[in-house]
Amino acid sequence: MPTKIEKDAYTGSDTTGHEWDGIRELNTPLPKWWVYTFYATILWAIGLFILYPAIPGLFSHSKGVLGWTTRDQVAEQMTAAQAAQAGFLDRINQASLEEIVGDNELFTVAQVGGKAAFADNCAPCHAPGGAGRPAFPVLADDDWLWGGTLPEISHTISFGVRADNDESRFSEMPAYDGVFSGQETADLAQYVLSLSRPGADLAAVERAAPLFEDNCVACHEVGGQGNRELGAPRLSDQIWLYADEESAIVSQINQPRHGKMPAWGERLNEATIKMLAVYVHSLGGGE
Ligand code: HEC
Ligand code: HEC
Repeated sequence: MPTKIEKDAYTGSDTTGHEWDGIRELNTPLPKWWVYTFYATILWAIGLFILYPAIPGLFSHSKGVLGWTTRDQVAEQMTAAQAAQAGFLDRINQASLEEIVGDNELFTVAQVGGKAAFADNCAPCHAPGGAGRPAFPVLADDDWLWGGTLPEISHTISFGVRADNDESRFSEMPAYDGVFSGQETADLAQYVLSLSRPGADLAAVERAAPLFEDNCVACHEVGGQGNRELGAPRLSDQIWLYADEESAIVSQINQPRHGKMPAWGERLNEATIKMLAVYVHSLGGGE
């Protein structure tokens, strides 16, 4: 194969000397500006390698002469953010719940902090925004099992419901499994339904009235008005902790669920509990 380097007549560049079946290869050099930019990027990279952490080793990496790390940067930013918050958190710690609600600035901080803490800790049960799920009460309405004032909400959050501490909200609906016949339990379910809507079996309601009077009124009150001292839900409204179906009511009478809510005072700091109480209170039903 001939390897003669020639000048190409059209472009003025040399050929490489390679030739295949009469086709010769042109040796067109890269443009100068491109080559110098390329060298400049190499120099730039070497500079970065020297200044910043770059070269991996077996157990660590080169540290760079500036000593910069992303970890330090995050730590710096966090210290700055904590310093900015500390002032507010101190004030929230010192203020009463009413004072927080009365102070525009603190109220805003409590709303933002409460909302974030709610999303982390409460939304898994109570749903985002306190919208509730079956067995986990809606916190955004004005129907309260245990009370909807700031101190009452704060107490429920701190000590929980049926939780393992002396201050916890506590009451247990008895399990009537075996106490009533199947017929009596079905009658009672009809009675409970009749308190909140038309269309119940009237003969059953009449049969159940004395049973309700003797067994249920002690907690659920006359007419099923409910009792917050005992966390006994109002049965005369359309709001249900469990469900408004006969089967759900029968099951609650036989085997009450005794829903549990954790005591958050053991897990969250005081400022967070206060912000949560203010946030829940503001969801729509605060008293
Ligand atoms: C593991 C599930 C669960 C989590 C998590 C949870 N709760 Fe509850 N919460 C419940 C249950 C169940 C009840 C109702 C208990 C009952 O009275 O039968 C309840 C009741 C409440 C009540 C009382 C409502 C009323 O009508 O009186 C408030 C207030 C409340 N929760 C706030 C919170 C806040 C704030 C958080 C987050 C810090 C939270 N809950 C996290 C399960 C949960
Ligand atoms: C010692 C108090 C107490 C007595 C007595 C009692 N209950 Fe309850 N009841 C409660 C409590 C507390 C709850 C909610 C907590 C739970 O079980 O999780 C409840 C819940 C219910 C619910 C569910 C309501 C909902 O919103 O889903 C029904 C229905 C009910 N009771 C019916 C009855 C009937 C019928 C009787 C009488 C046979 C009765 N209860 C007796 C305390 C009581």
